[in-house]
Amino acid sequence: VNKCAVVQHILKAYSKEPKREQGTFFAPSNIALCKYWGKRDTELNLPHTSSLSISLGNLGAKTTIALEQALKDRISINGKEVDEDSIFSKNLSHFLDLFRPLNSVFFRVATEVNIPIGAGLASSACGFAAVVGALDQLYGWELPLSLLSILGRLGSGSASRSFWHGFVEWQAGHDADGMDSAGACLESVWPALRIGVLIVDSEQKKLSSRIAMQNTVLTSPFYKIWPEKQARDLKDLKKAIEKQDFMALGETTESNALAMHALMLTTSPPILYSQASTLEAIDKIWHYRQLGLPLYFTQDAGPNLKLLFLEKDEEAIIKIFPKLIVVSPFNIGAFQC
Ligand code: PMV
Repeated sequence: VNKCAVVQHILKAYSKEPKREQGTFFAPSNIALCKYWGKRDTELNLPHTSSLSISLGNLGAKTTIALEQALKDRISINGKEVDEDSIFSKNLSHFLDLFRPLNSVFFRVATEVNIPIGAGLASSACGFAAVVGALDQLYGWELPLSLLSILGRLGSGSASRSFWHGFVEWQAGHDADGMDSAGACLESVWPALRIGVLIVDSEQKKLSSRIAMQNTVLTSPFYKIWPEKQARDLKDLKKAIEKQDFMALGETTESNALAMHALMLTTSPPILYSQASTLEAIDKIWHYRQLGLPLYFTQDAGPNLKLLFLEKDEEAIIKIFPKLIVVSPFNIGAFQC
């Protein structure tokens, strides 16, 4: 099954022509507490395991899409035109090919992102989700979020979780066409929860998560025990969220991230996203935790860390990490998952 067949299947009963002048959509960024690492289908971005994330409230991407009277797509980020020959533009135009009414039709795509650049804040997740949401508005499809999630996944796996606020679970699914592999939000609200973004290095990552996770699946001798660990962590995290048990949430999240990075170290050739500054920060987190401060971290495909803590400890934690960017995931007006 290829991407085009999935898009055609989802949109077969929907408009092939734009219904509006333009479409706009905001998608929050998301951080996985239980990671997605490894695909069972690299074309459709179907994962081996389910994953669970927390959305970053008002931090994310807002994208507007309109038809463009030109011979190519015009793409801008924060008001700046993106070079059409860049990998970013090529990837996005390739994704947009799935949604053109005719091959000769092009789009103007304007994205505003308010996430700190180079923080490793899953900009591809909110980016692809916002593009799909904006297309939904432009064409007037009004698809349910679960179908938008499937379309977003075709751009980037983690985009499937960027259509909701709060905690979001992405079910791995079993079907070959991935129609059962979509995100869904959990009802739970945890207003005191805080995520801190700790930038230890803002350089662009050298190895994409796409290549890194595929190499892990193919060569790590420990990948076969990953699904079992994932299933256990997912269950423990859902229980911790339900009971608002912060220690259980932090411990499971941290252990899950460390297990993912351990898998990478056992990949051939080995993958190491951590830097000396990453390890120094981890050491500091563990030091203060031993002193009684409830502070945990998670780490994705880059050197930066995302800290987990509660509102009551925010001041103490900012004293330890003065440059920390603090996010309140549930501080978004009326919460609707
Ligand atoms: O969706 P991708 O291909 O950018 O992969 C995301 C991988 C991690 O961020 C490391 C984990 C996750 O679940 O978001």
